[in-house]
Amino acid sequence: MENFTFYTPTKIYFGKDQIKKLPQSIAPYGKRVLLVYGGGSIKRNGIYDQATTLLTEQGFEITELSGVEPNPRLETVEKGVKLCRDHQIEGIIAIGGGSTIDCSKAISAGVFYEGSPWDFTKDSSLITKTLPLFTVLTMAATGSEMNWGAVITNVETNEKLGIHSVLMIPKVSILDPTYTYTVPTKHTAAGSVDILSHLLENYFSQNKGAYVQDRISEGIMRTVINYAPQALKQPDNYEARANLMWSSTLALNGLTGRGKVGTWSCHPMEHELSAFYDITHGIGLAILTPRWMKYILNEDTVEQMANLAHYVWDIPVNSDNLFETAEKGIQAFYDCFVSWGIPMTLEEVGIPEDNLQLMAEKAVEHSTLATTAYVPLAVKDVRAIYENCL
Ligand code: NZQ
Ligand code: ZN
Repeated sequence: MENFTFYTPTKIYFGKDQIKKLPQSIAPYGKRVLLVYGGGSIKRNGIYDQATTLLTEQGFEITELSGVEPNPRLETVEKGVKLCRDHQIEGIIAIGGGSTIDCSKAISAGVFYEGSPWDFTKDSSLITKTLPLFTVLTMAATGSEMNWGAVITNVETNEKLGIHSVLMIPKVSILDPTYTYTVPTKHTAAGSVDILSHLLENYFSQNKGAYVQDRISEGIMRTVINYAPQALKQPDNYEARANLMWSSTLALNGLTGRGKVGTWSCHPMEHELSAFYDITHGIGLAILTPRWMKYILNEDTVEQMANLAHYVWDIPVNSDNLFETAEKGIQAFYDCFVSWGIPMTLEEVGIPEDNLQLMAEKAVEHSTLATTAYVPLAVKDVRAIYENCL
């Protein structure tokens, strides 16, 4: 296991009605807040009314930024920065999924930076100060509620890139599983894939000694595989929603990734699909993951791939032919995503062959895929994986 720092200062209030803790959490920082949300789901399901009533009763002055897009855009971040400056905002409240939280993180940093927040995607050290961020999570997926990352899209350049700074980690996150009852089937499935993908990206690492991280990871994967179908079938199943929500947070707060070496593979490939075609992140990951696994399966990777099959899917290990065990595991992921109703080809999500070469080039340019990924992938490899997804 490598040396690491594990820093997750977010205070989590988990469970029904925990939103009541929101005003007291923000009060020490000030009463002028920016409330950030997406396309309106929080108005339809009542979370908006609940939050604004509580805040108004406690004397908060609320400025709103609505309409944050799935795959949040730079221009929305810029709008938020302006609102914060114009209204001398003292804290940001994000109510929504990863897109709303990520947009809020970028705003929180952009307020104290003279140039464009896009600069942070090239150099996160430009972030020197942030506004305190409070989140109310409405969808289980990204883990943004307890981590240091944000992903922003620049539609002008077809780029979707990450920003990382510990200064952006939320101060407090409210996780009420009942808030996810209204998440549509497509996003319940996509969010569940995203959770699995965060675990898988860390699971496949050059490092063989991070035993505890891998066993925790398998446990969370089994949880998602167990509960996603229940949430899909019965959206108001509290036990299912609660387990998915906590899995989302634990899958990307450093618990399973710290102490490992190497960098991620499917995420940089997916971010190009989203950047060019604005598709749902988790759907892109579902299409790519089994194809990537198949592509990188070799003598060096087969042992961990067989572990995955065995510990996550209970597939018996064939020690005479580990490849057989590994391939059964890959097929199990594919079949699982199909059973969750996910379209499993690029064609089905409206991505033609046209830009595969360009996207492969960009995926390599924007990431460390070709150097420090679990199995380094050159442009031709990424292109081949995209082609296998057509
Ligand atoms: O915008 P509204 O109207 O709220 O609707 C949203 C949106 O259409 C809807 N939704 C969310 N909660 C709901 C709900 N609808 C009904 N009831 C609810 N309770 O779901 C749709 C998707 O929301 P979004 O926030 O886009 O989803 P997600 O949480 O999957 O976030 C995706 C974004 O996060 C990035 C992705 O790349 C993508 O841009 N990621 C962020 C990461 C991070 N910060 O650590 C890591 C991830 O790997 C990922 O890259
Ligand atoms: Zn993700």
